[in-house]
Amino acid sequence: MSQPSNTAPGRFITFEGIDGAGKTSHLDAMEAQLRQGAREVLRTREPGGTPLAEKLRQCILHDPMDALTESLLVFAARRDHVVQVIEPALARGAWVLSDRFTDATFAYQGGGRGFDLGVLETLETWVQGQRQPDLTFLFDLPPEVAAVRLSSARHPDRFEAQDTAFFERVRAGYQARRQAQPQRFAMIDASCTPAEVARQVNAALHLRGWL
Ligand code: TMP
Repeated sequence: MSQPSNTAPGRFITFEGIDGAGKTSHLDAMEAQLRQGAREVLRTREPGGTPLAEKLRQCILHDPMDALTESLLVFAARRDHVVQVIEPALARGAWVLSDRFTDATFAYQGGGRGFDLGVLETLETWVQGQRQPDLTFLFDLPPEVAAVRLSSARHPDRFEAQDTAFFERVRAGYQARRQAQPQRFAMIDASCTPAEVARQVNAALHLRGWL
């Protein structure tokens, strides 16, 4: 990148997929790669990313609640994250890499829990206005394969403990988001070897001229 970072636009990149898809290790690799450049790189996650949102994360992952409460809490955490962290970083010209964002709400609360998509769309607009990621990596794989990868988790949280049928609905929820905004998504076949997955991730960045 030849532009100085204080005038270059920031980029908002999100990583999504069902639990066990392996996205976090590829996020680690991309973060390390981008940090070799001159641009500020900010790594964050949802639910979380601020002290308040990290407290809400503990409730969301571990406390029993209904789907409306769950949806309100993920969007409350997101509001704090967007206002305190994401928008200021993008305004500075940073690359923001987030382990999950609003597509996860449509997939897990909308798809997995069957919660009202119209309510989620209203909350999405309230919380983030027109802000959407510039690029979303969707790590896709069959839930049965993800379940094998997750089986070593010692204390599964409220989502990891769900059955394969739940994750089939989550996967379908992600596909519906991708079909609605195809230009934003890079589909990654997460059932491949780690080396092949890394190649697909890098190819998506090259395609956009970002590497
Ligand atoms: P993680 O394990 O990838 O950090 O994600 C935490 C869990 O939270 C994961 O099972 C997906 C779930 N989740 C939702 O249900 N809705 C959301 O909006 C987000 C961001 C995550």
